[in-house]
Amino acid sequence: MAYSRLLNLAVAIACLWTSGAAFNKQSSFSFSSDASGYQLGGPGLAPEIRVAPNDFPGVLRVANDLAVDFGRVLGVNATVVVADWSTNIAKKSSSSRPVIIVGTVGKSSLIDNLVTSKKLDTSAIANKWETFSYQVVQTPWTGQDAVFVITGSDLRGTVFGAYDVAEEIGVSPWYWWADVPPTPRQYIWAASPAHVEGPPSVKFRGIFLNDEAPALTGWGHATFKDSKYGSPFITDFYKRIFELVLRLKGNYVWPAMWSSMFYLDDENNGPTATEYGIYMGTSHHEPMARADKEQSRFLKGSWDWKSNKANVQAFMQEGPARSKNWSTVYTLGMRGSGDTGSATLTAASLEEIIHWQQSVLTSTLGKPLSEIPQVWVMYKEVPGYWQKGMNISDDVTLFWSDDNRGNIRRIPTAKENKRSGGSGMYYHLDYVGAPRNYKWINTIQLQKTWEQMTLAYDRGVHDIWIANVGDLKALELPTAHFMALAWDRDSFNGPASTREWLKDWSRRQFGEAAAEATAAIMTTYGKLTARIKYEDLSMAPFAFSVVNYDEAELNFKEWTDLLVKAQAVYNGLPSATQIAFFEVVLHPIMAGRGVYEIYTKTALGSQYANQHRASANQLANDVQAALAADSAIAKRFHSLLNGKWTHMMDQTHIGYSNWQEPSSNSIPRQTYVTTSVKDSLMGVTAQGSTTAFPTAATLTLPPISPYTAPSDRRWIDIYTRDNGTFSYKISSNASCVTATNSQQTAASPGGISDIRAISDIRAIVSVDWASAPAGSSSAALTITSGSTAATVIVPLENPTLPSDFRGHVEATGVVSMEAEHFAPATTSKDYMIVPDYGRTLSGVKLPAKTDSQAPAKGPVLVYSFYTFTSASAASLTFYLSPSENSNSESPNRYSYSVDGGAVATVQPVPAGSAGEEPAGWSDAVIQNAYVKKATLGQLAPGKHELRVWLLEPTMVLTKLVVDVGGLKASLMGPPESKIVGY
Ligand SMILES: *[C@@H]1O[C@H](CO)[C@@H](O)[C@H](O)[C@H]1NC(C)=O
Ligand SMILES: *[C@@H]1O[C@H](CO)[C@@H](O)[C@H](O)[C@H]1NC(C)=O
Ligand SMILES: *[C@@H]1O[C@H](CO)[C@@H](O)[C@H](O)[C@H]1NC(C)=O
Repeated sequence: MAYSRLLNLAVAIACLWTSGAAFNKQSSFSFSSDASGYQLGGPGLAPEIRVAPNDFPGVLRVANDLAVDFGRVLGVNATVVVADWSTNIAKKSSSSRPVIIVGTVGKSSLIDNLVTSKKLDTSAIANKWETFSYQVVQTPWTGQDAVFVITGSDLRGTVFGAYDVAEEIGVSPWYWWADVPPTPRQYIWAASPAHVEGPPSVKFRGIFLNDEAPALTGWGHATFKDSKYGSPFITDFYKRIFELVLRLKGNYVWPAMWSSMFYLDDENNGPTATEYGIYMGTSHHEPMARADKEQSRFLKGSWDWKSNKANVQAFMQEGPARSKNWSTVYTLGMRGSGDTGSATLTAASLEEIIHWQQSVLTSTLGKPLSEIPQVWVMYKEVPGYWQKGMNISDDVTLFWSDDNRGNIRRIPTAKENKRSGGSGMYYHLDYVGAPRNYKWINTIQLQKTWEQMTLAYDRGVHDIWIANVGDLKALELPTAHFMALAWDRDSFNGPASTREWLKDWSRRQFGEAAAEATAAIMTTYGKLTARIKYEDLSMAPFAFSVVNYDEAELNFKEWTDLLVKAQAVYNGLPSATQIAFFEVVLHPIMAGRGVYEIYTKTALGSQYANQHRASANQLANDVQAALAADSAIAKRFHSLLNGKWTHMMDQTHIGYSNWQEPSSNSIPRQTYVTTSVKDSLMGVTAQGSTTAFPTAATLTLPPISPYTAPSDRRWIDIYTRDNGTFSYKISSNASCVTATNSQQTAASPGGISDIRAISDIRAIVSVDWASAPAGSSSAALTITSGSTAATVIVPLENPTLPSDFRGHVEATGVVSMEAEHFAPATTSKDYMIVPDYGRTLSGVKLPAKTDSQAPAKGPVLVYSFYTFTSASAASLTFYLSPSENSNSESPNRYSYSVDGGAVATVQPVPAGSAGEEPAGWSDAVIQNAYVKKATLGQLAPGKHELRVWLLEPTMVLTKLVVDVGGLKASLMGPPESKIVGY
């Protein structure tokens, strides 16, 4: 997208100019008292905004918003003057105040006269879709030194121009929906050169309010007057929605539909959308601009084309007749009743339906099909019909969709890209349905949205993007990100752009001082929620291992550390900003950590009870407390700003037992230790053990080596098995093996640690490798308390690594490699690393425009690793994104070979029959990964080279694990092995 850089004058004073409101654009505004340019505001001074009476009503409306936005930052509102050039108001009245002209090319007499008098050049924007510019125009008429002109190529171009200026001067698009405080300004100056933006990357860009109960609906009832049909979604509500969408430079909305009828709930809804500049659509199963709820109320007979065609036709005909004068994108086609497939529809009958719908559109609207925006949504079962081969005219936009979990099911083929109607993408940031709803709070990893929507865009999806945003509230961040990508895909120049965008967005909402930390915090939040969604946590067994690699504990520790960081940023913010920060950042972390606490401590507690740790009771109490805290956190949200967001956190989210939400939040069954013990008061267990002393007299730790991952610490827990106190002492039979906390008194209750409860003491085992014996050996630690003694065996592996080796090194029978840690010199440069993508570190993929590759021919990823263990049945596990086979002509595949041996080629995602999810889909989306294990057979100790070829740009590799006999079960695989040399 073109934009003008500031010329010499501005470069000289560059330090005074801040970066722009739009991502990766330079700002035209500065705010210090001694800046230069055209002054738009100062102490007690606000501009006069002039609009021509013949411009769109939506332009006058946005001029009034801009006037108030100046007031929000300056403390004094601008005034709006409807100034007709022909009656000389504008020409003659030179104002002592700064003058801003807002108008549309070819529509506003103010703009057109500046063009005629050669004061303004609009050639950069004229006749383009939704394009705007703003600039200072010198001596626009005699007696006026300068004016600031905001002009658009069409209604929305002008509206976006005005809102862009509003954001530049310090009013966030989220000032109302997320309570982001405007930035106070004493001075506002505009630079002369024209700032031009547009046309947008995607023609129609918007949001779908969906799954809107209980939260949005409950809040709506408390905030707006209910319509005569009972819905709270009246025009006062939609004005807020439309304004937000336009401030985000969007233009398209699917209205709330669970128990609402957009066009009937308030008869002003339809015309207001058009006045604002919003195109209304209806969701995938609501054809012809009529709501699903209208079917049950007004349709005679059943929603069935085969048996009730005449009545269904009469019903559908009324949609375009009603919305004929309004900006509408018509949804075509038909599905079964209420978001289900139909038992009676065939490809032939769908073809007939669409042809009939198109004839109704042309006759009702009196326009050719090529001028009517029409979409056919390829949702759930619908692609199955299209795949059979249907004769649908090219005017229809084929509106593809994801799998409801953020994985695009289908990108257009080269042939489909030639259709004039182009294609769209329906993407979910929230969902109700199997395997489970996710409709509570934000669980979106922005890097994944970037990866999938860039894939869509780069493979031809340019016409419509819509995001299902659920209740909208709580999804501010992913919504803003999705809309920014849709507006200007090219400003996201590369896979690291998400981090940059997030920092920029954080700066604009919470200020420069908090920007960097907030971006890091929300990046981590995205990673933690990418591991498993809140609603899926109640599935048994618990997703994270409570035995191996300390996976559950370490994961929960990341949540706790994140909360500490977020709370610290919150504490440092001005109080007005704290509210917005709480809503968007602190709340999801606080509430999300609480949910993880419930499930993590439940799973650990049950293991602790088996080990007869008295502390199991503390964990159970913590879980009860976390449930109480959860409702306190929701209450805190509801009491913000005197109850502005009441009911917004009413969504249940704890205790899912099937795909549908539970009626109330409830915690799993807790296990308490109640039986008293007669044998040893001291209990001992060791990392990786499910059993414990005294049930087992001797415990064995997993082996430890100099190459063991630092996070994979060897520890021994010493704990009370009943109420009481004891002292213990740890002794080692090898001077190179030591343990912390080697002499302590354990008491119930005792000292507090993070996840292990009050009475437990953790002794960390460490080895001095300089004095440890070479090769394999073992040491023994004895934990003695009075006359009882437990023994913990510590297997030691101290192998010799050739000094010239570069790569990952085996420890404990495993080599674990993050995908981005390939051998840098030998890996093809064609691969891109997507930082922060996925569950652990990042992802690696081919750029979206890359062609399908033949096995073992194209760009290669090379991994170098060293093993010490001689394995007769080695295996290799690939961790891939849950991306679908979205190229219908070539499924996701990868090839690999080890040590130059035979090349194997794997299709990780089975072919689904068209319109159905592939086998294994549910598990893949729950764990957010396809995990594919291959047998390697014999693998001799020594240096190895693994070569991997990703054959499609539709897939992302995140991690690789070689098992030479030591792999243990876990969700995310072992922590990464040590890398030597790079
Ligand atoms: C600006 O105008 C709005 C809308 O009329 C009003 O609510 C607000 O109080 C005004 N602000 C100032 C600073 O006068
Ligand atoms: C559309 O606009 C025309 C002209 O203003 C008017 O006569 C007609 O009643 C309108 N139709 C609807 C359905 O509102
Ligand atoms: C410890 O004492 C408390 C209070 O007397 C009792 O409720 C609890 O059950 C006891 N714990 C065990 C493990 O017996």
